[in-house]
Amino acid sequence: MKKDQKVIDVGCGTGFLSLKFLEKAECFITGIDSSSEMLTIFTEKTKKLSLPNRICIKLEDAESLQFKPNSFDIVASTVTLHHLKNKYPTIKKIHNILNPKGKFVLGDIDIDTTGNTSDPKRMLKLLKWLKEEFALALTEGGTKAFSRMYDNGKKYILTDGEYCISFKQWKELCFKAKFSKVTVKSLADFKWFKVLVAIK
Ligand SMILES: C[S@@+](CC[C@H](N)C(=O)[O-])C[C@H]1O[C@@H](n2cnc3c(N)ncnc32)[C@H](O)[C@@H]1O
Repeated sequence: MKKDQKVIDVGCGTGFLSLKFLEKAECFITGIDSSSEMLTIFTEKTKKLSLPNRICIKLEDAESLQFKPNSFDIVASTVTLHHLKNKYPTIKKIHNILNPKGKFVLGDIDIDTTGNTSDPKRMLKLLKWLKEEFALALTEGGTKAFSRMYDNGKKYILTDGEYCISFKQWKELCFKAKFSKVTVKSLADFKWFKVLVAIK
């Protein structure tokens, strides 16, 4: 990262990733999120730091992305874009708001939950993936573990507000949106979490 680069954190939440960027370099951060509660916490955090004019926090949906073309050097987003049912229009907008050679950095869970919820083949595929999650919860035991299993079932089997796709599919969407180069990396400590970097 270079000083004064312009970064947008899409689905910034309470600012975890945005603040990591600022630790790395004196950049300009725009954080957008559709939840005012999340942004209130982020705003409170920034008040305790001395970062005048470095952070702009905005209530905005990732599907809207109302910024001028060529506005950012980096568009970053972690565990947010799987919430969008229709992802391609946002990927296109991300490509549009990036500067030439700008980077789109996506961190998310690598699981394809698309398909019909009543399709037994899909269910089997998801259960293969979820059994490790469920086993972990069972080891912990108790109501917290049960609630995590229930939560995971709702999210991934019933796609309740979450529409995960594989990184193979993310990559295809990036190429379709005319990104020139796309790489995907796994993280050693997180089996299901991947990072994609796409260059405009
Ligand atoms: C799991 S949190 C991740 C927050 C942050 N990126 C991080 O890594 O700590 C997901 C965030 O996405 C936001 N979000 C969900 N759907 C969104 C949308 N359509 N547009 C913008 N933000 C959205 C939520 O409000 C929440 O803050």
